[in-house]
Amino acid sequence: MANRPKKIRGYFPLSVATGIIILIVLAIIAPNAPWLIWVALTVLGVCAFAMNRDIRKAQQVTAPAPALPEPVRVQPEGPSFQEVLRAIPDPVMVVSGVEPNDIAGRWVVFANTAAREEFHITGENGLLVSSVRNPEVLEAVDEALFGNIRRDTVFETSGAQDKFWRAWTSPLPVAEGARKLALLVVRDETDIRRIERMRADFLANASHELRTPLASLTGFIETLRGHAKDDLKARDKFLNIMAAQAERMGRLIHDLLSLSRIEMNEHVPPSGEADLSLAARDVMDSLSILAQEKGVTLTFTGPAPGAISLVADRDQILQVVQNLSDNALKYAPPGSEIELEILTDRTLEQAIAARDPAAAKLVLLRPDRRDDFYTVIRVKDHGPGIRREYLPRLAERFYRVEGQKSGDKLGTGLGLAIVKHIINRHRGGLVVESIARPSTTDRELLAYDLPDKVAAVSDDLTTYTAFSAYFPQPRRLKA
Ligand SMILES: Nc1ncnc2c1ncn2[C@@H]1O[C@H](COP(=O)(O)OP(=O)(O)OP(=O)(O)O)[C@@H](O)[C@H]1O
Ligand SMILES: [Mg+2]
Repeated sequence: MANRPKKIRGYFPLSVATGIIILIVLAIIAPNAPWLIWVALTVLGVCAFAMNRDIRKAQQVTAPAPALPEPVRVQPEGPSFQEVLRAIPDPVMVVSGVEPNDIAGRWVVFANTAAREEFHITGENGLLVSSVRNPEVLEAVDEALFGNIRRDTVFETSGAQDKFWRAWTSPLPVAEGARKLALLVVRDETDIRRIERMRADFLANASHELRTPLASLTGFIETLRGHAKDDLKARDKFLNIMAAQAERMGRLIHDLLSLSRIEMNEHVPPSGEADLSLAARDVMDSLSILAQEKGVTLTFTGPAPGAISLVADRDQILQVVQNLSDNALKYAPPGSEIELEILTDRTLEQAIAARDPAAAKLVLLRPDRRDDFYTVIRVKDHGPGIRREYLPRLAERFYRVEGQKSGDKLGTGLGLAIVKHIINRHRGGLVVESIARPSTTDRELLAYDLPDKVAAVSDDLTTYTAFSAYFPQPRRLKA
């Protein structure tokens, strides 16, 4: 459509040249029939007129609207209406069109500042289709232009962050015979959608997860009211179980709220500063008594606090280190060691690379954008490990590895999901590496294939789990 006038302009001189040649030929071969020349001249004139009209029409259809006349002011000394529109925080556009059903031939004759920024509009006029590609919105603009219909449409744009928009289209009054105009106002509804989804998830998760402990509490209350009424020993035992259930319900609500809050801000990059070494030291301090009770030693290797600071949310970084260390302590056997290690100046490949080729490894989260350097925090325990087949589901909400003993406190299964969302907000990544004892079926298979290896596997195997969280490092530490 856009190149129609060019084509017509190309044909025009060609037909004029052809006409002149015909006239010369006629003058030579028929000098005695001047009326033939008059006929040819008339045909030529009619063709030229028709072509000129076509060119004008095509130009009117495809060319942008002429520049806007002098702006009308809100007050004699006040801003013009264009300036008022420019100040509106939502994208606002005025679109013109001449021919119905030519969805690609709509021009943006006015775009306010927000529209120019959000939809990358440069220059005075631009084709609407190069800024807004959603067919439903283009269709709605056409309905406003030629059907006098106002409506709203929702659409999505994808990029580093997916966005949800609502577009309002409505016809604008114009003089008879003038080009049609429509108003297109767009609003970013990403946050509203996110909150809606979060609320739905929260309600679904909370009601599902609280149902079991609540049912068990009700059961115990019934028993205490009934046949265990006068049984002091049973009453004590039941009350302890009930207290543990109530505590778990409290933890569940706390973790779910925390997860919802983190998810809500996941698209907002962190702006504070955080020191990973300091976070590791604080977590080690907070776990020291529990570790002592269990006979577990916590060790640390890495730069001293103050050496490297990340662009990060300090509380969230602390939450990551705390959750990974909590898990390590939960599964570390008495007398064992938990190693916290911080590595700086790692490239993405180095941050992800496996330390131990014999271990099962999985990248649970990879950043969508590559930074030059990363700082890695690795938390390693010498617990039972996690078998390869369980690794992919680790960061799912409520996922807990089947049949695994986690000590006296039953977790909520939200710890790693929280860790993953926090790291994602920081554009970092998460890797797990583990060696676990093979399952009975694995052992049977091994015994069948490599009988002499089975004994070695069963006896000398040192099982472990190491989670590595890595975060973009703003500058290189070592010169
Ligand atoms: N260091 C580890 N060693 C062995 N298994 C682990 C380790 N860390 C996590 N897991 C497994 O992954 C599951 C999910 O961990 P996650 O931290 O999300 O939940 P949780 O620890 O059970 O509960 P929460 O952290 O909410 O109290 C755990 O239930 C456990 O089965
Ligand atoms: Mg946990």
